[in-house]
Amino acid sequence: MNNKNLTGEVYYPSEEVINKSHIKDWDELNNRAKKDYQSFWAERADELHWFKKWDKVIDDSNKPFYKWYTGGKTNIVYNCLDIHVKTFRRNKLALIWEGENGDTKTFSYYALHRETCKFANVLKSMGVQKGDRVTIYMGRTPEIVIAMLACARIGAIHSVVYGGFSVESLSERIEDSNSKVLIVADGAYQRGKIVPLKQIADEALQRCGTVEHVLVVKRTGQEINMEFGRDMWYHELINLPIATQHCALEIMDAEDPLFILYTSGTTGKPKAILHTHGGYMVGVHSSLKYVFDIHEEDRYWCAADPGWITGHSYIVYGPLLNGTTSFMYEGAPNFPYPNRWWQMIEKYGINILYTAPTAIRGLMRFGESWVNRHDLSSLRLLGSVGEPINPEAWKWYYRVVGKEKCPIMDTWWQTETGMFMITPMPSVPLKPGSGTRPFPGIEMDVVDENGNSVKPNEEGFLIIKTPWPSMIRTVYKDPERLVQQYWSKYPGVYLTGDSARKDEDGYFWIIGRVDDVIKVSGYRLGTAEIESALVSHNTVAEAAAIGLPHEVKGNAIYAYVILRAGIEKTPTLIEELRQHVSHEVGPIAKPENIEFVDTLPKTRSGKIMRRVLKARALGQDPGNISTLEE
Ligand code: WT7
Repeated sequence: MNNKNLTGEVYYPSEEVINKSHIKDWDELNNRAKKDYQSFWAERADELHWFKKWDKVIDDSNKPFYKWYTGGKTNIVYNCLDIHVKTFRRNKLALIWEGENGDTKTFSYYALHRETCKFANVLKSMGVQKGDRVTIYMGRTPEIVIAMLACARIGAIHSVVYGGFSVESLSERIEDSNSKVLIVADGAYQRGKIVPLKQIADEALQRCGTVEHVLVVKRTGQEINMEFGRDMWYHELINLPIATQHCALEIMDAEDPLFILYTSGTTGKPKAILHTHGGYMVGVHSSLKYVFDIHEEDRYWCAADPGWITGHSYIVYGPLLNGTTSFMYEGAPNFPYPNRWWQMIEKYGINILYTAPTAIRGLMRFGESWVNRHDLSSLRLLGSVGEPINPEAWKWYYRVVGKEKCPIMDTWWQTETGMFMITPMPSVPLKPGSGTRPFPGIEMDVVDENGNSVKPNEEGFLIIKTPWPSMIRTVYKDPERLVQQYWSKYPGVYLTGDSARKDEDGYFWIIGRVDDVIKVSGYRLGTAEIESALVSHNTVAEAAAIGLPHEVKGNAIYAYVILRAGIEKTPTLIEELRQHVSHEVGPIAKPENIEFVDTLPKTRSGKIMRRVLKARALGQDPGNISTLEE
């Protein structure tokens, strides 16, 4: 492929990059995987430790409820920690952390193992057992990593709720998962202010009734409410004799659940995507190894939040499975100044930076001089995820941050896929704005309404044709939704919800969501969540939310509201409603603007036609409106 003439604007990898990378010949690997994808995935699984080897790589006897590595026994935490503690990596740094306020902490693999065991013992003393769900609601601090690993070590299922979500989002996720234990921080630093996580959690807990114990991790130190008998300080419990640094690891079946993670879908409430110990481990380990080309001496930084799948796979599990040194930063990229990120890259000698287009566009606005003040020569690879990266941002990232020597890994994937699905590797020629081709062993296509491949460069639905190890196993408590949402439009094929094109070289170009999911700054939100927050306000009768293009955020939320009879349309009310959404769902969901209207475009069956609202807002033709009621 490297010697082939590709169409369009192409960035070929340098000899230096190719020589360094694990996969020098992508086509060879891809062909091998294509010939026999089961052996390919068996080889990948063989790179990890199993207490008992699997009987079958894949069991497809009950599609689409695929099973992987059935009969295999493992625990992802064994491969993240215990295995390294037995080697020279015992003393290697697993985690380097910097708080927004300048605090720092480091953990060797030995220390992370010790702290995980202690935390696990605390959870056990609270009665947490294999299969129990534990909700975690914290900022970006090492304790969130430790809490997740502690749950997994004892076979409990973690459900992390992003710290940027608020009262109602947290409450419905706790309730739906039936968590008995909540792990929460007192607060988190964000842009110099404290996000009062415990206070938000207190309010959320008033709306749901499943939680018996709340474990509180001290971070920000302000006065908080501690409810007697329910709330306990983590720093007090880990000093008790029960919290020893030895904690037996639960041997798990490959298909035992590891975590659930809520994500927004087309309709209604967020759904809990379930991932397992075996297949998820294999997919995440090999994808990170090959795509970010992990080497022993690397310092790797994924700047996402552990509360989203990017953080689960590529801050917590992937880096530890690969025995690498990971850097984590608590706060905002431009605090106190727009050079914060570049300063830390220089200070810690970061080699790999993985972030989102919105962050790049945001930092781009401050100009190159902030970047150029720092020596970024340690950087070797860059990455992007979450939404399409516009070529302008890609080129800025490539030139200003990567100094034209760092390939950009534009990785397309989803909460549901668990791992990178469309992605380059360092030795693959790049085109700005394209994630290139599917990861070896994975077959994808762009199809029309009837499921037929579209012609090169034509837009269509993005689909996945082969199962993969870290695929979504089910929607927790709602397996029918797995079938309905992903596997029913075309038989035997996974529907991603994205539209895309494929060019004449087989490179994929993602266009965007084709459902009611809105990507705001790369965060996934559903129109339904925003609308139900609006309708929960006592002045609102009906609401509709849409996403409109935004220079930095990619998309911004606009809402249309019909007020209840007799309520006056005032600017103060607009502000109050925006605040209300922020309080209920989270600051990321706060509408950019709200417009009061008297009617909403609906189909005869009463469904809001958001497409019509969007066309109107953009001054475009709304297209086929034959189903419009009036
Ligand atoms: C949706 C999934 C998985 C990481 C974070 C997002 C969009 C993700 C890209 C990319 C264009 C992308 C898609 C996808 N998306 N990565 N590189 N280029 N679009 O996970 O929250 O489950 O969202 O994010 O629309 O369907 P998520």
